[in-house]
This record gives sequence, structure tokens and C-alpha cells, in this order.
Amino acid sequence: SVIAAVMVGRRVRSRRRWWKVVKVVDEFEENAVTSVGRLRQVVDAMAVEMHAGLASEGGSKLKMLLTFVDNLPDGTESGTYYALHVGGTNFRILRIQLGGQRSILGHDVERKPIPQHLMTSTSEELFDFIALSLKEFVEQKGNNLQIPQVRGKDIGFTFSFPVKQTSVSSGTLIKWTKGFAIEDMVEKDVVDCLQKALARRGLDMNVAALVNDSVGTLALGHFYDKDTVAAVVIGTGTNACYFERADAVIKCQGLLTTSGGMVINMEWGNFWSSHLPRTSYDIDLDAESQNPNDQGFEKMISGMYLGDIVRRVIHKISLESDIFGPVSSKLSARFALSTPLLAAMHEDDSPDLKEVARILEETLDIHDVSLKVRKLVVKVCDVVTRRAARLAAAGIVGILKKIGRDGTGGITSGRTKGGKSGKMRRTVVAVEGGLYTSYTMFREYLNEAVAEILGEEIAPYVILKVMEDGSGIGSAMLAAANSARSVDTVQ
Ligand code: GLC
Repeated sequence: SVIAAVMVGRRVRSRRRWWKVVKVVDEFEENAVTSVGRLRQVVDAMAVEMHAGLASEGGSKLKMLLTFVDNLPDGTESGTYYALHVGGTNFRILRIQLGGQRSILGHDVERKPIPQHLMTSTSEELFDFIALSLKEFVEQKGNNLQIPQVRGKDIGFTFSFPVKQTSVSSGTLIKWTKGFAIEDMVEKDVVDCLQKALARRGLDMNVAALVNDSVGTLALGHFYDKDTVAAVVIGTGTNACYFERADAVIKCQGLLTTSGGMVINMEWGNFWSSHLPRTSYDIDLDAESQNPNDQGFEKMISGMYLGDIVRRVIHKISLESDIFGPVSSKLSARFALSTPLLAAMHEDDSPDLKEVARILEETLDIHDVSLKVRKLVVKVCDVVTRRAARLAAAGIVGILKKIGRDGTGGITSGRTKGGKSGKMRRTVVAVEGGLYTSYTMFREYLNEAVAEILGEEIAPYVILKVMEDGSGIGSAMLAAANSARSVDTVQ
């Protein structure tokens, strides 16, 4: 009977600790709720903030930056162009050959991780690394730059941070995001820094376009499909841009553009609304980040942060119960769990969740957890990913609403093209970034939520298209579009 009593005691304790665990997870799920009603509030808030950001400088957390891109590629571009892309985990160099008629004849890419120390060193060191890498790339590809082939020297520079542009090929860094912190760069002209570094390395190349990655993605989207009106990036960070009418940019009265419109870089990563389903984990993540109170939307959506939200929830559970064994010190280390690993756990389809067990062991030092506990971890991954994808979906519909493409103007007989304002037309949104392109569950949740918010009548008009490497290729295309102008000023 003593043994029986011990057994009963154990069972009660185990039930109690499981109850505590369930409570943590349930609470998290409740606070992270993204019902369609809640998403519609986010849609409205996004559209309202877009108006406010366009009305006056500093009118909203959404900066709604001018890009000076007033014409998007249409497929007629030709020649050889380079692009450099700085902005996430990887640094990329590209060379493309455009053949007119919507064709890309050649396409070389090189990816290099940016050494961690360069992300927080000096601008000179960062740009030297970039210039040297470009030099090696150009030499490897055997392009003799001594040949006076001006068009082959034009570069599109994709710099994926908030920049206050002064022209299509110049602009100053407003602030860093995504873990970069090179103090001497802030408020400096980024093209000037690059151009000087190129000169130091003896490279006679000309930056013809300074481009945000979202803008590059929109450019490539438009190159292939003229109904592309907006672009979204969901990678290390997240952002969106879209084509806006010049007269809607109230803060810049009399904005002259050749097309009557301009691409606006929203910097939506910094979007904020009280309707966002924020949890205590988000609050802690923000407080401990390099940029507290900034990039609130990004911190709930993008690759830099999702893994860390999951890590925080597991840590909390581990403190409240012993289902993960003794509290692992790895669990309190920021960014100990990366988003690709979160995705791998989430998408583990082995019956005993082997991958989940392996990742818990190898990255978090958590051993021998039962299947029930592994399932719980997958559940946490699911809540985090689903919320992120659905919020990004609401953001996209917010943009469509702002430009009258969300169908609230109704569908009329002019169902396809050429409808008057308010009538639904085929609408394409270009998407790039690893979360959408490589994380199937994320992509499915996002697509599903867009359709859910729009409703089944409107959803078929809205098409999300993946633009692999769009940020770089599109940037080279914008260099092509602007090379004539820059050659004029250079000569
Ligand atoms: C961050 C940057 C933004 C970029 C995005 C995606 O939000 O501020 O400029 O577009 O990440 O890379």
C-alpha cells in the first residue's frame, strides 16, 4: 500500500505538471490569436497607417519612403548588368544578361555569408569586403572591364535597410535593422560609401540604382507580369513596397514623375497597431533586442525572430515544469534556436518526430523527451509560424485595400482588365524571402489567410508569385533602366 501511495502521488504530480505546461501553451495560443476578424482589423490598420505615412513625414510608424523608381521594367531591357545585395544573412553578387523581349539570357549568382563581425564594425570594413568580393567575382567571370563597354559596368545596389533616397541612385541610411549596427554609417550616403570602396579596389563601376530588396522584387515581378502592383519580402526581415499614384503622396506635393506614380518602400517591418496579437514573449524579445520599440511587425513575422519566440516559449515551459528535464542553459541564450530549425521541427513528418528530438538535443541540449512532449514542441512551432504567416497576409490585403484592389469596390461585369476604379482586376503580388519560398507550412498558411480575408469571390483575382532572387535580379534591371541617365551624369 505504501508503494501504491507513492505511485498515486507520482501520477498526481505528473498530471499537475502537465496541466501547468498545457496552461502555458494555451495562454500563448490565446494571446497569439489571428481569427479572421482580428486579421481584418490589422488590414484596416495597415491601410490607415499607409495614408498617415504618406500624409506627412513622421505621420506614422510606416515610413512610406520615396524610391524615385517611377517606371518598372517591362521586359524590353537588354545588356549585361551587375547587382550587389546586402541586407540579410547572405551577401549576394549577381550578373545578368538581358536580351529584350522579357528574356534573361544569362544569370550568375554568388552567395557569401556576411562575417558576423562585419555587421557591427565600421562602414569602411563592410564596404571593403563588398568591393573585394565584387572584384573577385568580376575577375572569375572573366569580364575584362578595360573594354569600354559602359553598359557592362552598371550596378544595381540592393541595400535592404531603411534609406532616405535623394534620387534613384543615392540616399542615406536612416537606421539599421536585423542585427546590423555600424554606427558611423547612419545618415551617410550608402552609394557614396560603396563607390569609394570600389575606387579603392580599382573597380571602375557605376552604381546606377540604389534599391530596397522589396523594390527589386517588384521590378522583377513587373518584368514578367505587368499586373504586378506590389511586392513583399519575408526573409531575415520583412518589408513591402507598391506602386502609388504621385498625387497620393501628400507629403511630397508636386512630386514629378514620368509615369504619374512612384514605388513606395513602406518599411512595413516597423508597422504597429494595438490590434496585433502580442504576447509576453514578444514583449521580452523586443526589450532585449538591439532596436527596442522598433520593427514590431517584423519581430512577429520574419526569420530573424521566429525561432527565438519558440525558444522563449520552451524556456518558459521548462521553468514551470520538468518535462524538458533540468533547465538547459542553452534555453536562455538569445537566438539559440534558428528559424530554419524551427521549420525543420514543424515539418517533421516522421511518426516518432525524430527530427524534433535531434534538434532539441543538438541545439538546445534537451535530451530524451517523450513523444507527447515532442508533439507539444511542434504545436508551439505551429502557433508561432501560423501567426506570422497570417499577419503577413493581413499586411498584403492592407496594401490591396489602400490601392482599391481588395474588392471592396465590388466586382462588376468588367471582370478582368481595364475596370474602372473600384472594380476588381487581376492583381499580382511578387513575393520573395526564405520563409515564403522555402518553408511550405508558412507559405500555405499565408496563402490560405489571404484567401480567407478576401473571401472566395475576390481571392481568385489576387495572385501571389514567387520571385526567386528577385531583390537582386530586379535591382540589376533597375540599373539597366537607369543606366542611360547615370551615364549622362557620369560623362
Ligand atoms: C528590414 C529592412 C527593410 C528590408 C527588410 C527585408 O525590414 O529594414 O529595408 O526590406 O528587412 O529584407
